Amino acid sequence: MYKLSRPTIAFHWLTAITILGLMGLGFYMANTNTNSLYPLHKALGALSLLLILPRVVWRLREGWPKPLEPHKKREITAARTVHWVLLIAMVGMPVSGVIMSATNGYGLSIFGLDVFPRVPDPANPGAVLIPSPFWDTLTRWVHEWLSYLLAGAVAIHIAAAIKHHFFNKDHTLRRMLNFRR
Ligand code: HEM
Ligand code: HEM
Repeated sequence: MYKLSRPTIAFHWLTAITILGLMGLGFYMANTNTNSLYPLHKALGALSLLLILPRVVWRLREGWPKPLEPHKKREITAARTVHWVLLIAMVGMPVSGVIMSATNGYGLSIFGLDVFPRVPDPANPGAVLIPSPFWDTLTRWVHEWLSYLLAGAVAIHIAAAIKHHFFNKDHTLRRMLNFRR
């Protein structure tokens, strides 16, 4: 059985928990209009890049884990496609979020550290001016639709892990959990 490297296992679970948490928070706050949760989502989402970027660089440098035998070619292609979607979405989500905050006037503050300032509208107290309506609209659209793609890919991904473990009874999930050897 091909073993997975320790950075692969550590990065996988740390980013998985972070992204699942941010997805849950994002869908909850957006669908219930809970504005008080936005600053937390934005701060944690921006900080998640500090974990996600090294994780993606590691994956690109180390290459994809070798598939376990026996696997059909189309299964390997399906898994590789979903893994690429997950990798691209985990970068696209925080990047689109940060650009959205920089261009929609609400700004970005990471636990008191002002990264992008809020742009208050002098004529309308409480409201903001939108520095770039084009980038605001584009990144809002990307953030929303990429979140649906990410949620779909995560659902397929978890279903596949369950299928391998309980139905095929192979080592796919076990080797991702095998940190100690
Ligand atoms: C891995 C990182 C992130 C994930 C997984 C994530 C996930 C999500 C999800 C699932 C939604 C709900 C989408 C919807 O139903 O419209 C959302 C909304 C939102 N996110 Fe993120 N997000 C991330 C990072 C960020 C960052 C870094 C920012 C800003 C700095 C941000 C700002 C927002 C905002 C403002 C909304 C609400 C959009 C609206 O109400 O139209 N997100 N996010
Ligand atoms: C309970 C949740 C999860 C389980 C049980 C799980 C399980 C697994 C397993 C068993 C593998 C190894 C596949 C192989 O050997 O080819 C894997 C790989 C992978 N998973 Fe997950 N996963 C989960 C959540 C996530 C999440 C939330 C993401 C990202 C959004 C993610 C992204 C990836 C990626 C990109 C790979 C390819 C290998 C790598 O880059 O580490 N996983 N996952």
